[in-house]
Amino acid sequence: MSTALVILAAGKGTRMKSDLPKVLHPIAHAPMLVHAMRAGAVLEPERTVIVAGHGAEAVRAAALAEDEGATVVLQEEQLGTAHAVDQARAALEGFAGDVVVLYGDTPFLQPDTLERMLAARKTHDLVILGFEAADPARYGRLVMQGDSLERIVEFKDATETERAIRFCNSGLLACNAETLFGLIAAVGNDNASGEYYLTDVVEIARKQGLAVTAVACDEAQTLGVNSRADLAAADAIFQERARAELLDLGVTLMAPDTVYLAADTVIGRDTVIEPNVVFGPGVTVESGATIRAFSHLEGCHVSQGAVVGPYARLRPGAELAENARIGNFVEIKNAEIGEGAKVNHLTYIGDASIGANSNIGAGTITCNYDGVMKHRTTIGANVFIGSNTMLVAPVTLGDGAMTATGTVVTRDVEPDALAVARTKQENKPDRARKLFDMLRAKKARKQKDT
Ligand code: UD1
Ligand code: MG
Repeated sequence: MSTALVILAAGKGTRMKSDLPKVLHPIAHAPMLVHAMRAGAVLEPERTVIVAGHGAEAVRAAALAEDEGATVVLQEEQLGTAHAVDQARAALEGFAGDVVVLYGDTPFLQPDTLERMLAARKTHDLVILGFEAADPARYGRLVMQGDSLERIVEFKDATETERAIRFCNSGLLACNAETLFGLIAAVGNDNASGEYYLTDVVEIARKQGLAVTAVACDEAQTLGVNSRADLAAADAIFQERARAELLDLGVTLMAPDTVYLAADTVIGRDTVIEPNVVFGPGVTVESGATIRAFSHLEGCHVSQGAVVGPYARLRPGAELAENARIGNFVEIKNAEIGEGAKVNHLTYIGDASIGANSNIGAGTITCNYDGVMKHRTTIGANVFIGSNTMLVAPVTLGDGAMTATGTVVTRDVEPDALAVARTKQENKPDRARKLFDMLRAKKARKQKDT
């Protein structure tokens, strides 16, 4: 059976207190909506329709960045969840399979839950996803009769007895497209909120003699994000899951709770991640690497056997070849570090390439920015850069070259040449002692005066 996803994402999310549409708030650097799309992607949907409203243009951009085949439709006014699904009608014209409705602010749905919903669809016309709520609060209540779901009552419209029900509506459902749009056409807005409730399709379906049931999942999967506190809690849940997955794949996390992962972080087996490491978006670490404590990585690639940190910062475009070494207080941006090359202490390498087995001394800086434009530094293989070298880009150093400590390199250095650019040292006999005497005398006079 082919499926289509309809993801509701038009709501404003007033309680987020934000100018950003709710579904674009990130969890582990990926918008909530993208998490929802990825959750639904396991069904290999034939079509994906996102219903946008508040911040529709930004929502459209995020949706298409994740899946360029998705259709984003506009719900101009938020008249309720049934009205929202109805906006997908035209986009699903001619689609004869099942529609699965998801919420853009419910990022944690697990694949097996969706599969169980579709399995239940084989014996029922309409399947709702429910959960036993620890605190049922304002959720819609599922009124069951045995295996059959009779209706969903919104909290606002529920009687005392109905409010006592703990089996609640997640809002997600699965139904044949034609049947669903037929049911939605019959939904009115005569209720406490004056909205078109998607939940009303249950009672309408039952009146038509259709078979309706509810499948249960654990509450964590249906967690909706409505506030910044919910967002933080959702991020924590994501982190816990992602860390568990890495451990399961054979990655060592010495202190898992202190490692922050992004939704797209990829780490190979036998890599060791020390405590307090932060992964921004776009990081790939191959197997057998070591990321030492307090490092921050973003948009970079770390090859096999490389060692990063402690206290290193890899910024976008940092490409570390096998067995490269990046040490403490080193920042790398848009630069390739060759196989076995070492950048171990207090250094900035930006817009550069460093050849294999070169050694960059402490305090080296690539002066890549002239205040207007960025320039590249190219360093060959087996180069030795003395400590505190300033490399004023654009500049190229050939294989086997060397720079003297403290050199300011402004011209290219040929292969195997030594670049020295610093004033000659002069030692003045006895001068230090005289200076000390003078200064101490001055200090003594001052103390006497006060
Ligand atoms: C809805 C359900 C409720 C369920 C709860 C679970 C209805 C009537 N109620 O209530 O039974 O327990 O979710 O969280 O369906 N949206 C639109 N356009 C609209 C209205 C909503 O796109 O016109 C989107 C929202 O952005 C959100 C989702 O639909 O992603 C749910 O809307 P929300 O207003 O949060 O519904 P609830 O009142 O929470
Ligand atoms: Mg809600």
